[in-house]
Amino acid sequence: METNLQKRRENKKSLRVKVISLGNAEVGKSCIIKRYCEKRFVSKYLATIGIDYGVTKVQVRDREMKVNIFDMAGHPFFYEVRNEFYKDSQGVILVYDVGLKESFDALDSWLGEMKQEMGSHANMESIVFVVCANKVDLTKRRVIDESEGRLWAESRGFQYFETSAQSGEGISEMFQAFFSSIADMCENGGRRPASGVSAGFTREQADTIRRIRSSKDSWDMLGVKPGATSHVFKQGYFMKRVPVGNSVIVLQHCLKGDRSCV
Ligand code: GTP
Ligand code: MG
Repeated sequence: METNLQKRRENKKSLRVKVISLGNAEVGKSCIIKRYCEKRFVSKYLATIGIDYGVTKVQVRDREMKVNIFDMAGHPFFYEVRNEFYKDSQGVILVYDVGLKESFDALDSWLGEMKQEMGSHANMESIVFVVCANKVDLTKRRVIDESEGRLWAESRGFQYFETSAQSGEGISEMFQAFFSSIADMCENGGRRPASGVSAGFTREQADTIRRIRSSKDSWDMLGVKPGATSHVFKQGYFMKRVPVGNSVIVLQHCLKGDRSCV
């Protein structure tokens, strides 16, 4: 009798969740999952064909969590297979390779593909996202620095982690925070709790900063055509100095009327 009651209590506490991994091919999605689940690293590239599936049990506070992990193939070729698996996910691990700018730039398209496949009724606020800036062990080939990745993630309310599936850096911290946020969300009636992180910028400002940082010249930086008159600037292109991260100073354009513009 007591055992049944005990069992019922345990069942009440246990959660079953679905998480997926997203990001370009070869950024390290499968290796991150393997590092966490199997505590090992495989240096040979074995492309995921369609989807890899695995289950793991984790303990989050007083709850047992059964996590169904759907590891997606990043190659465009597998789009038809991937699109079946987006729905009903409670968590998404978004991965890019810090040495490949195109994999970072592709994060928006991954979110776009997910939104499109889940349909207009889908509520992205009921999904926990974490961003992995992966392969940080390869310091010499790094092209996306921490401030840029963190800004992209945190301006969207996503948690940001620097990871290396090779050395294991950041992997268990990322998964612990990820599962803990999913448990919080389930306890919070399915609404993603505030991430507790803030980039200090809105998503639009963060995107502008990103454009400015990758611009080719001053015209591009201001978002105007070469030779634009001062009138164009008065229409809305003012400049402002903004510190990002520890020391990087960038220029931001902001709307006319903002008195903080200099
Ligand atoms: P798809 O399944 O094709 O979408 O690729 P994936 O994102 O799952 O990449 P995968 O995990 O298979 O890793 C791709 C390659 O990167 C492999 O050769 C890995 O050994 C290597 N790799 C993954 N993570 C790291 C890392 O943190 N550091 C280093 N140095 N190499 C890594
Ligand atoms: Mg893979």
